[in-house]
Amino acid sequence: MPRLHVNIDHVATLRQARKGLEPDPVLAAGLCELAGANGITVHLREDRRHIQERDVRILRETVKTLLNLELAWTAEMQALAVEIQPDQVCVVPESREELTTEGGLDCVGLEAELAAGIPAMKQAGIEVSLFVDPDPEAIEAAARSGADFIELHTGAYANAKGADRENELKRLETAANYANSLGLRVNAGHGLDYDNVLPVAQLPHVEELNIGYAVVCRAMYVGMDQAVREMQDRILAAAPPEA
Ligand code: PXP
Repeated sequence: MPRLHVNIDHVATLRQARKGLEPDPVLAAGLCELAGANGITVHLREDRRHIQERDVRILRETVKTLLNLELAWTAEMQALAVEIQPDQVCVVPESREELTTEGGLDCVGLEAELAAGIPAMKQAGIEVSLFVDPDPEAIEAAARSGADFIELHTGAYANAKGADRENELKRLETAANYANSLGLRVNAGHGLDYDNVLPVAQLPHVEELNIGYAVVCRAMYVGMDQAVREMQDRILAAAPPEA
């Protein structure tokens, strides 16, 4: 059964609406951990639209579970990661116009740059994950680049309906099995919510789910503690029944 990592970017989105101090994603991270989250994920975007450098630095001091930093594979972000030392980085594609990360990383096009930069992360004790579509060529390039994990992009699954959703789930399953056969560990995330998470939590080899928007939205109504516990309950339902 996968572990839940809560992405708290959208707590910072609300703070940045007024560029003040509230709500503080650092406090939100503490509440997520108290409610049982297994890790905290933040995306420090180049345009700093939500999470700020200050947040990542304080979170590095306060997060007791696991800190996963999503970043674009730029020299600036690689240097910052090596300096701040999150437990894990997840490399994502980034474009200024997008509302959220829209597709997986072009691992084939970026393979040489990834292979060149990944050893510095590993030397700093940081595990490297690459956010990929469930596409065999991307997964092969991820394995060649020396990454530890892939994070399967579940957005197409989350957006699909009916038979298309089943097809997308099958693609995720095939991709998870293929990545595992190449020695990669597997995470998943994007667009997961309380209704669609269970089949993804039941996929083979998936170790961590990164879930943000749905949890932060629900927290607006029921509070962060209950929102995280409810998501954990949905994931727990993926555990095989005890013999
Ligand atoms: N995983 C990655 C790599 C992401 O970029 C995001 C969005 O920041 C998520 C997971 C979480 O997606 P959502 O907010 O839709 O749950």
